[in-house]
Amino acid sequence: MTDSDALRASAKFPGATMASLQNGKMLYEEKCSTCHGLKNPAAYNEEEWRKHVRRMAPKAKIDKPTEELILQYVVTMCGK
Ligand code: HEC
Repeated sequence: MTDSDALRASAKFPGATMASLQNGKMLYEEKCSTCHGLKNPAAYNEEEWRKHVRRMAPKAKIDKPTEELILQYVVTMCGK
């Protein structure tokens, strides 16, 4: 991830930083890879990611802050 990713993240998610993005990436890899392979962030747009992450959160048994960090990461990296 680069500074420009962090900049894009903070435009959409107030308070997002390089550190929170990295945290989101780590959580995504840890929590979202157990049942299926990791989906490429670029495979969906923001609206689709919002739906998928909301729907998958109970499956992954994650709390709201974790869900937000994962959402921040995949939406920022989807590039659309
Ligand atoms: C307990 C198992 C489990 C965990 C953990 C899990 N998933 Fe899934 N996921 C599924 C199953 C089963 C499907 C396929 C059926 C469906 O779409 O409901 C799926 C489908 C998906 C899809 C594709 C939907 C589509 O229609 O193309 C996405 C995107 C996804 N998961 C993202 C995530 C993310 C992000 C996380 C972490 C927050 C996650 N998953 C964690 C079980 C899981």
